[in-house]
Amino acid sequence: MSEVKSIAVIGAGTMGCGIALTAATNSIKAYQIDVDKDQLDHAKTYHEKTLARNVQKERMTQEQADQAAGLISYHQDMDDAKDADWAIEAATENVELKKKIFQQMVETFGSNVVLATNTSSISITEIASAIGENAPRVIGMHFFNPVPVMKLVEVINGLATSEQTSQRTIELAKRMGKTPVPANDRAGFVSNRVLMPMINEAFYAWMEGVAEPEHIDEIMKLGCNFPMGPLRLADFIGLDVCHDIMMVLYNELGNQKYFPCPMLRQLVTAGRLGNKTRIGVFDYSTS
Ligand code: CAA
Repeated sequence: MSEVKSIAVIGAGTMGCGIALTAATNSIKAYQIDVDKDQLDHAKTYHEKTLARNVQKERMTQEQADQAAGLISYHQDMDDAKDADWAIEAATENVELKKKIFQQMVETFGSNVVLATNTSSISITEIASAIGENAPRVIGMHFFNPVPVMKLVEVINGLATSEQTSQRTIELAKRMGKTPVPANDRAGFVSNRVLMPMINEAFYAWMEGVAEPEHIDEIMKLGCNFPMGPLRLADFIGLDVCHDIMMVLYNELGNQKYFPCPMLRQLVTAGRLGNKTRIGVFDYSTS
């Protein structure tokens, strides 16, 4: 199987942007795809800013930054990327939407192209069920935010994922400078099975008055060496995303302990989603 030279990244949200940039900085051409033009513009700005920052910090030369920028193209139509050697879906965490995208991916890309998903909690087997005999090409390739910085790719095989798909995913993750680690196809895999209940518990601690949010975070940072506290991290990930992942755990594992904390639910209902709305647990409107 020949080396992957180009990747179609479907979805230009935080994760999709990061995946496209990480591909390009590792000399892989990236087609950044999103139906929403504003998201594509936002992705381009993020790429330009991050590359400029890397040059300023002498992590790369201007020539390398220009080369990486030149490897990313922006498209509203998936068909523009039909010659890509690899496809990864990084759309919203909605199973029906993902199934539709996978059906479109099968129509668009060649039969040798791996169809990966960056889902953070939805079953790979379920996504693959939408494309029948193509299920052996489907795999979970779960990156972490911020993608250019975080070393891990959680690699999840669905029930039908072929050995070849799995091996090629491990190879590609390494070429992108990441460390692939396998996990099985159970709700939340490993990362979110462990991380999200901890974040949810931090909301309970806040709701029950155990400590103020900034103190909960400070205790976890200074006492447990977390780079950011659980509530700050929830804002960073997006409170809606945290809520949706808890609902996947709750629905799939059937245990009440995974039900999202009322405090988390209330903030999501109020549209306080964290960094992206400039207010979540904490207020970022002046920073
Ligand atoms: N894109 C690119 N690079 C970024 C970045 C971004 N969005 N954010 C930070 N960086 C880089 C910068 O290069 C920065 O270095 P310079 O300032 O020298 O340019 C470097 O990271 C450090 O950033 P900061 O100084 O701003 O802040 P920091 O030292 O606190 O690090 C952090 C920021 C890396 C995000 C760190 O706080 C951290 O590791 N936080 C935890 C992140 C985490 O847990 N992520 C996983 C979330 S869960 C997930 O993604 C999966 C899921 O399914 C929900």
